[in-house]
Amino acid sequence: MNNADILIGANLSKRFDDLEVVKDVSLIIKEGEFVSLVGKSGCGKTTLLSLLSGLEQPTKGQVILNGKEITGASEEELALFRREHVGFIFQSFNLIPTLSAWENVALPLFPIKMTNEQRQDRALELLNQMEMGHRTEHLPAALSGGEKQRVAIARALINNPKIVFADEPTGNLDSATGDAIMAILSELHKKQGMTMLMVTHALELAKTADRVIRMQDGEVIT
Ligand SMILES: Nc1ncnc2c1ncn2[C@@H]1O[C@H](COP(=O)(O)OP(=O)(O)OP(=O)(O)O)[C@@H](O)[C@H]1O
Ligand SMILES: [Mg+2]
Repeated sequence: MNNADILIGANLSKRFDDLEVVKDVSLIIKEGEFVSLVGKSGCGKTTLLSLLSGLEQPTKGQVILNGKEITGASEEELALFRREHVGFIFQSFNLIPTLSAWENVALPLFPIKMTNEQRQDRALELLNQMEMGHRTEHLPAALSGGEKQRVAIARALINNPKIVFADEPTGNLDSATGDAIMAILSELHKKQGMTMLMVTHALELAKTADRVIRMQDGEVIT
């Protein structure tokens, strides 16, 4: 394996009952790349992302993430591995409604041995970076969509992930707010060299990326 290959998917297939949703997909993402995954609704983008990030196991094929083969790992191993190496950003934000903004951001740090003050400091640092320093004590319900997504991005970054997976991160936002979120992600890539695989419907947004992977009916076509 080349050191710069942060993510390798080899001959991945995923079948739900009699429906093959991902069909023999192979791809490589290099460290520092910003790749977008596009294709029509239902073509298998979210499913492929779940396979590549270790959220789901493929029916066939292999995934090697950060030099480790994650195919066949136990649920427990996978959860630990994801927590250490992977960040996630979702269309629906997936914040915990009963926790404040900073507590949501700090959540991935709770299993790690550190003081609450250290966790809070780190969460506040990231919220400041997301220009959310004035909204740290608010519950998600009191935040706008764009603010929620900034909190979710801060949470995704708190473990210094090797790669961030984003599934339509601007899908629930109006276009101006979506553009602002895309600008944040693009800057994280440019300034910090963050590796990212982003699913999007919109070819317009995909243009921000270094490379576009197209899917059709479960297959990668470019
Ligand atoms: N757990 C599941 N059980 C059965 N079928 C599923 C499951 N998850 C996804 N599918 C099916 O797999 C296909 C691909 O779904 P997927 O969510 O990956 O598409 P997508 O490209 O992300 O679509 P969208 O752009 O609408 O989010 C769909 O036909 C969907 O119904
Ligand atoms: Mg999807």
